[in-house]
Amino acid sequence: MTYGMDVREPMRVPQSAEIIDYVVRNGARLDDAHRFLIDRTRELFGDRAGMQIAPEQGALISLLTRLIGARKAVEVGTFTGYSALCIATGLPADGELLCCDISEEWTGLAREGWRRAGVDDRIRLRIGPALDTLRGLPDVADIDLSFIDADKPGYRAYYEELLRRTRPGGLILLDNVLFGGRVLDPAADGPAAALRELNPALAADDRVDLVVLPLADGLTLARKR
Ligand SMILES: C[S@@+](CC[C@H](N)C(=O)[O-])C[C@H]1O[C@@H](n2cnc3c(N)ncnc32)[C@H](O)[C@@H]1O
Repeated sequence: MTYGMDVREPMRVPQSAEIIDYVVRNGARLDDAHRFLIDRTRELFGDRAGMQIAPEQGALISLLTRLIGARKAVEVGTFTGYSALCIATGLPADGELLCCDISEEWTGLAREGWRRAGVDDRIRLRIGPALDTLRGLPDVADIDLSFIDADKPGYRAYYEELLRRTRPGGLILLDNVLFGGRVLDPAADGPAAALRELNPALAADDRVDLVVLPLADGLTLARKR
């Protein structure tokens, strides 16, 4: 791989199942509430559990929330609450996280996990199309951190609504940006095509500093300038 430049190939660890297991065991501190949401999601919703972010992503999101001293956060796409738990535990006790989802059923389990972790009082859940919820927020740039993980064709609009409400230095995180590698396929349609179009647009967006991490299914970190 040359990236179009004459550079030495850096070291990269192959992402085997064993390496991922090692990373999670040594790099993600899973407490009872994390484990409850992982296990119960699998029991209740089977293969849908694959929608949950990976534990190593959750650890990073928690750390980023703390690192930037976030007090006000927004999540688009909550499912059974694992990523929200990771954000909420990174917030101070008087911090607030607004969660957007359309499923009462999935987020019912989320509420139980948040209660077990003792962070339910920091989280407000809004059921309804996320774009309506975001557009209903005050047009004030006071959000510290957002996490976008809902329907992929909606990402661009969520990003725009959130970016205008994010304070300078605040972060927007976007999950699944590599979409199982299908962003490389020019013939891909649907969600993969939405992300294939979004990624270069974000890379060229001079309103943010940006990095794409090949972590799990791909996680973009965009910092508002
Ligand atoms: C990939 S899952 C989120 C996973 C979650 N972040 C986690 O770590 O467990 C996507 C979620 O987006 C929600 N969703 C899909 N379309 C939506 C929309 N238009 N507005 C709000 N939520 C939506 C789905 O109900 C689903 O729970």
